Amino acid sequence: MTALNKIAISGKGGVGKTALTALLSHIYTERGRSVIAIDADPAGGLAGALGFPAELIEKLKPISEMEELIYERTGAKPGTSGGFFSLTPRVDDIPDTFSVRHDDIRLLKLGSIDLGGSGCMCPESAMLKALVTHLLLYRDEMMIMDMEAGVEHLGRATAQAVDAMLIVVEPGRRSLEVAERITQLAGDLKLRHLYAVGNKVRTDLDRAFIVDNSPVPVIGYLSSSPEVIEADLKGLSVYKAAPATVAEAQVIVDALEAAIGA
Ligand SMILES: Nc1ncnc2c1ncn2[C@@H]1O[C@H](COP(=O)(O)OP(=O)(O)OP(=O)(O)O)[C@@H](O)[C@H]1O
Ligand SMILES: [Mg+2]
Repeated sequence: MTALNKIAISGKGGVGKTALTALLSHIYTERGRSVIAIDADPAGGLAGALGFPAELIEKLKPISEMEELIYERTGAKPGTSGGFFSLTPRVDDIPDTFSVRHDDIRLLKLGSIDLGGSGCMCPESAMLKALVTHLLLYRDEMMIMDMEAGVEHLGRATAQAVDAMLIVVEPGRRSLEVAERITQLAGDLKLRHLYAVGNKVRTDLDRAFIVDNSPVPVIGYLSSSPEVIEADLKGLSVYKAAPATVAEAQVIVDALEAAIGA
């Protein structure tokens, strides 16, 4: 077993988190790993980038919207707070029961939590926290998590189980500012092994800009590619539609494995 089992992917909106998550999921599956991809971004879209067929995407309901299940497991209805409910609901059966599977990739969608004020702990957030903890600590497959521009789903206790966090950046100041903020949040949680992935790169100047401004080491790059855009427009898997980008992502995986997986 390699040491690299749990990868979280973060970054500014629209930089390519979902595309990278999909690419890594396919590459690790191809390399013989059992992969669970986690869509932890409320905006979603991972199923499409993975090339899941429409009928499977329809079946994929976010866990945070499963009211009955949340009620059954926590003892309280979603949307309520302040009452008594379990902070340690049973979740061990959820990944197998509520994920969908295609091309040997298991996909689970977490959905969004309406935090409704700072630090609110409501039944659905208790449920998602317990689930992410379970995925990180008690499942042995390769987990690749597509996150928001933050570390919302991670807590102090679980962040250290993340073997690597990749912050996707593009040649643009905003994405590097967001990377800076994510790095701070990740540092607070003592997340280990933070790397940037430069995406939508066109020139050496782009690469230099990213290296000069990244708060964390840059592990690799993906070039700007019309095939990636087309995959998105046509609802095709990035892995199948953009072979040149797959080759670049393979180099990133090799670099990651050399840095921490070996
Ligand atoms: N290497 C690339 N070359 C060209 N276009 C790309 C590349 N990577 C991603 N894109 C395009 O950029 C857009 C955003 O990509 P993606 O959805 O992967 O980003 P995201 O960070 O997950 O966005 P969101 O924050 O909305 O979830 C998509 O239209 C995608 O096709
Ligand atoms: Mg996305």
